[in-house]
Amino acid sequence: MPRAPELNDIVAKYPPGKPRALLHLLQDIQTAQGYLSREAIGAAAQHLGVTETRAFQIATFYKAFHLTPRGRQTLRICTGTSCHIRGAMVLADEVRKTLGAGPGATTADGAFSIELVNCVGACALAPVLLVDGEMLGNVHPGTVARRLKRAGEAP
Ligand code: FES
Repeated sequence: MPRAPELNDIVAKYPPGKPRALLHLLQDIQTAQGYLSREAIGAAAQHLGVTETRAFQIATFYKAFHLTPRGRQTLRICTGTSCHIRGAMVLADEVRKTLGAGPGATTADGAFSIELVNCVGACALAPVLLVDGEMLGNVHPGTVARRLKRAGEAP
């Protein structure tokens, strides 16, 4: 199957047969396409002369890489100590009920990708959600739907 023109252009920026460029090439692909498709990882591996297994090892080792398409917004649920004590996992359940997708997933409509994160440095506002970096503090489970709607595209 022929590669997408954009993928070809990104790969062509790197000299072939240079395995040390793998991390940078994967970063460039993700920046351009939002995630690393199987095709993109394979193309990078082939171009740089590394095995696909090695390329997948790198792509799956770093949390910054995403192997599935991302939502238009990223919803982060803080699970640091303060937020955990003040109900972060109850919030995660409420997010799952509200959006139909939980941590590690993207909603079916592509609106949100949901992640659990460590302390985001706003413990006094625990429990905390972040919508594309916008902080929502003191989030009560009963207000998740309303607060997400105000912050973005939630139903
Ligand atoms: S633990 Fe959530 S902001 Fe610190």
